[in-house]
Amino acid sequence: MISTTHYDDYDVIALHQKSDFLTELLAKAGLTNQQQKYLQHFINSYSDRTKTSKHLSQSYRPVLSDDKNLGEFNLLFKEMYYPIVANRSMGSKIWDVDGNEYVDLMMGLGINLFGHNPSFIKEALIAQLDQGIQIGPQSEIVGEVAELISQLTGMERVCFSNTGTEAVMTAIRIARAVTERKKIVIFSGSYHGHFDGTLVNANKAEDNQYAIPLAPGVLQNFVSDVLILDYGNPQSLEVIKAYKQELAAVLVVPVQTSRPALQPKEFLQKLRKLTQESGIALIFDEMVTGFRIHPGGAQAYFDVQADIATYGKIVGGGIPIGVIAGKNIYMDAIDGGMWSYGDASYPLVKKTFFAGTFCKHPLALAAAKAVLKYMQNSGFSLQKSLNERTTQFVKALNNYFAADGIPLQMANFGSLFGSASLEISGENSTASVAMSLLKYHILDRGVHLLGVNGYLSTAHTCEDINYIIQVVKDSVTNLREGGFI
Ligand SMILES: Cc1ncc(COP(=O)(O)O)c(C=O)c1O
Repeated sequence: MISTTHYDDYDVIALHQKSDFLTELLAKAGLTNQQQKYLQHFINSYSDRTKTSKHLSQSYRPVLSDDKNLGEFNLLFKEMYYPIVANRSMGSKIWDVDGNEYVDLMMGLGINLFGHNPSFIKEALIAQLDQGIQIGPQSEIVGEVAELISQLTGMERVCFSNTGTEAVMTAIRIARAVTERKKIVIFSGSYHGHFDGTLVNANKAEDNQYAIPLAPGVLQNFVSDVLILDYGNPQSLEVIKAYKQELAAVLVVPVQTSRPALQPKEFLQKLRKLTQESGIALIFDEMVTGFRIHPGGAQAYFDVQADIATYGKIVGGGIPIGVIAGKNIYMDAIDGGMWSYGDASYPLVKKTFFAGTFCKHPLALAAAKAVLKYMQNSGFSLQKSLNERTTQFVKALNNYFAADGIPLQMANFGSLFGSASLEISGENSTASVAMSLLKYHILDRGVHLLGVNGYLSTAHTCEDINYIIQVVKDSVTNLREGGFI
């Protein structure tokens, strides 16, 4: 086993050996002398600061097949293409294996609404570990957790899976089973997890609404009944109208992580009316928005009640969970519906298939109960004040970008924030190199954010937020000095 602690000498030698390669690479990239010099120095110092993370990445690459990284591979930044390896975390902070401290903005990809390792979740997990992990018999608290979800979201019945992907897959299956229709609508820009049936791309060559597979290995058969429509575009409602007899479901991420500025309330309300009139299941994928924008999620915020909603992330308190919640008419397809002892009732409704060894895992349920109880006791003020702080944070960043002439704009939806600017295209255009370098500079200064999307938590302090803003400003200054802006 490779130690994660003693690498002080590692890569001083390796870096020297590589410097020829790096010089050649930077020269070939068409950078100016000033840019080459700056970048060479920055890459060496970044690699040195995070040398154990880099070493672990390289050492285990032969055996560990892993795509967790900093986005698309770019030869220019090859020497910094490795994930920061975490050692521990608490509150708003994480510490890497080299002892560097970061203010974390990734927050477990949106999981850690209360920061890292909050004591009320930790205590619930320890108590459950003391009682053991019982998979097979029914959980003592699963009914209570279902009830809490129902109370907070307004959904009638609840069922548990292990991940968001499974929850979405199950919601689609339920919708198809109940409506006895095949087609579903997915909106462009939405990510619904990695089930084959949602791994779709728009068919740009044919310019129609029918989806094509997103990646090799996903079969056309899996996505032939998927239509991809523009999110928030009134014309999409016309297409839904045209296909209304064939549609089992319309699947919506109410506010997409990649486009937090797009918050189309009127569109969603019209979509609700249309799907209701046409017997189409409206599925809200609330993996990111659920319990974040409001205890009742985006449905409460936009005043739209979906037929089925899927949740995960926050509600699991750091333990894997997926939740499928919905109206009786849909959720009864899981168990045959309501019945009672002592009378003639029995599960009457036609069922679909649903299973999973780890569903209702005791640790996930213990964490979920702690999270939901905490939210219920705190009320909406918990989300409201965090959402407002995130809005202020984004405002401060935008004011700075505007004052300094930086063509970036941010937006937020609750405690999720991200880019509101247009996508920067062209792998090695000056703008895209500057954007990539900005990300590395921010990491280098101890702010853990891998893209432009991130999350604030209730554990972030004013000091943390001021530090992040200062780091962004300093990084822009450095990039100017290097000739990249
Ligand atoms: C909106 C949405 N749906 C589904 C998923 C998939 O969830 P999981 O990664 O838990 O499978 C994600 C994950 O980020 C998501 O953001």
